[in-house]
Amino acid sequence: MTETQFRGVAAPESVVLDPPVLYPGTPVVLLSSLNPDGSPNLMPMSSAWVIGKTALLGLGRTGQTFENLRRSPECVLNYACEDLWPHVERLAPLTAVDPVPPSRASQFRTERDKFGAAGLTPVPGEVVSAPRVAESPIQVECRVVSTRVAEESIVGVVEAQVLRVHVHPELAAADGRHVVVDAWRPLFYAFRRYLGRGPQLAKSFRAND
Ligand SMILES: Cc1cc2nc3c(=O)[nH]c(=O)nc-3n(C[C@H](O)[C@H](O)[C@H](O)COP(=O)(O)O)c2cc1C
Repeated sequence: MTETQFRGVAAPESVVLDPPVLYPGTPVVLLSSLNPDGSPNLMPMSSAWVIGKTALLGLGRTGQTFENLRRSPECVLNYACEDLWPHVERLAPLTAVDPVPPSRASQFRTERDKFGAAGLTPVPGEVVSAPRVAESPIQVECRVVSTRVAEESIVGVVEAQVLRVHVHPELAAADGRHVVVDAWRPLFYAFRRYLGRGPQLAKSFRAND
């Protein structure tokens, strides 16, 4: 019996793993929010999806960003392109939480100026108070609609409404609606590695651009 197939090679058994992280390859977003003192925070994240006009974000409940979104319900999803990976990695060991919780102290340090530390440029949001990242070619301004966390869970779920989408002119199709996918080079996070994209394989049956 064939249990798995990969690149045309069938295997009679699957291997049961206990992976330390389970990021099979999701886009990297730099999520901006406002700290209690009004300064901007910026966290790299990869658990972010948009369905229709609703963004769903998976955030650690002890991080500063989750706390920020509960208090000040506005944020910007700044999608990272491939060449932003060094900036993302500069943000990776940083938190705005002060002091760093003991469980994270060996790997993280407190940083209030995340934009400066990452070498990224804040630009005011047009309809929210959280800043956009100038170097991000797709910026999505959102209003938080709900934040939830189950009693025992370490992860909070944030639901946010998309208010305004900005794209770099090179990514904007002439119809004013679509993104020029050939020009878009998203950065992916896969099992703690940064990856880029390959060529387009096909169009979905619903693509009409
Ligand atoms: C590429 C990448 C993706 C990440 N994805 C997430 C994520 O989806 N959710 C999350 O809570 N943390 C994620 N993290 C970890 C946060 O960035 C990290 O906890 C950060 O310290 C949070 O900052 P804050 O405490 O200032 O909000 C990711 C980190 C990296 C480098």
